[in-house]
Amino acid sequence: MKKIALALSLVLAFGASAALAADGKALYAKCAGCHGADGSKTAQSKALKGQKAEALAKSLAGYKAKTYGGAKKGLMEGQMAGASDADIKALAEYISKL
Ligand code: HEC
Repeated sequence: MKKIALALSLVLAFGASAALAADGKALYAKCAGCHGADGSKTAQSKALKGQKAEALAKSLAGYKAKTYGGAKKGLMEGQMAGASDADIKALAEYISKL
């Protein structure tokens, strides 16, 4: 019984740390140079500020899958190449609240 409880708490601990691993704020640090700390910079693209999380996640997943974008999409495809689904979700949620 003790072993089961230990195994269970390990599973829970791992689950919690996995959820914390995708930190939207930390992930956004490398985006701020082009999009602005609050997502309102429009020199490179449409403003991210004001967009809903679902729309942002769709664009980001599209860049990763190379199925979305405009003339400068190559830049964003590079940015999203290594992003996981959890990263995309965390980024979209963080940006939607900027
Ligand atoms: C080197 C500059 C640069 C960096 C860094 C960068 N972006 Fe971009 N981003 C762009 C450009 C340029 C576009 C427009 C690309 C196109 O033509 O589709 C864009 C487009 C986007 C769009 C789509 C906007 C829209 O509504 O069409 C989103 C969302 C986005 N970026 C999020 C991010 C996130 C999140 C990061 C950080 C992981 C990031 N960007 C890092 C330059 C950058």
